[in-house]
Amino acid sequence: MIKVENLHKHFGGFHAVDGASLEIAEGSITGLIGPNGAGKTTLFNVIAGVLPPTSGRVTMGGEDITGLPPHELFHKGLLRTFQIAHEFSSMSCRENLMMVPGGQTGETLWNTWFGRKRIADEERALRAKADEVLEFLTIAHLADHRAGQISGGQKKLLELGRTMMVDARIVFLDEVGAGVNRTLLNTIGDAIIRLNKERGYTFVVIEHDMDFIGRLCDPVICMAEGKVLAEGTLDEIKANEQVIEAYLGTGLKNKEALG
Ligand SMILES: Nc1ncnc2c1ncn2[C@@H]1O[C@H](COP(=O)(O)OP(=O)(O)OP(=O)(O)O)[C@@H](O)[C@H]1O
Ligand SMILES: [Mg+2]
Repeated sequence: MIKVENLHKHFGGFHAVDGASLEIAEGSITGLIGPNGAGKTTLFNVIAGVLPPTSGRVTMGGEDITGLPPHELFHKGLLRTFQIAHEFSSMSCRENLMMVPGGQTGETLWNTWFGRKRIADEERALRAKADEVLEFLTIAHLADHRAGQISGGQKKLLELGRTMMVDARIVFLDEVGAGVNRTLLNTIGDAIIRLNKERGYTFVVIEHDMDFIGRLCDPVICMAEGKVLAEGTLDEIKANEQVIEAYLGTGLKNKEALG
């Protein structure tokens, strides 16, 4: 579905992504792991059009999408979750979902004059959809709560919920588990698995929590120093000499992360 070929992203003389090549299979939940500073987030940002690559190519279903801006990728169904923006924190969770762009009719002047009924109908449908998403994510009780006042883990669920307001095909998740308690992390994991099975979403998941990766992801890709080191099941990755060395080389904290 996604093919990354010899991708480079340099910051000055520093090669954050240094010739990475990988493929993401449609329908997979692919894990992306690697020690701190491996270039995982930078790779995501380049694929998702947030950063232009220095060189290399990204294709989606054979179509060259290298360097396309996020909104164009969004329309192709490629989404990267972002933290709920500060200015949205005073809006309710339901409103945050209803704000996700999806080609509503309300935006043009013509429609404002001639389509009042249609706009009201769409708003009702949008609201129903947002409520359905909140239900799916087990946070229906938070519909009217301000997004700024829910817990960190609940925010992660809401961010995931934003991808459900449109017809996403592939979703990139960067450390959804960071700072989230175990119960909520399991809920997030369940939601990802259900979206994958029931709606056919493909996921690419960056995460340091190996239990989470092990439960969700096959295959797992390991990066270090801007390059792809290995790909396989988590057990294969954990047994890979180069992977172990890469984690060891960056200190005990990372070694423990590998388990
Ligand atoms: N805008 C930038 N300017 C300069 N250097 C950057 C920039 N963004 C990232 N880097 C550097 O690129 C390297 C890779 O960073 P990146 O955030 O992609 O790693 P990561 O694998 O996501 O790490 P972590 O697991 O800690 O999130 C790091 O050494 C980082 O300091
Ligand atoms: Mg990162």
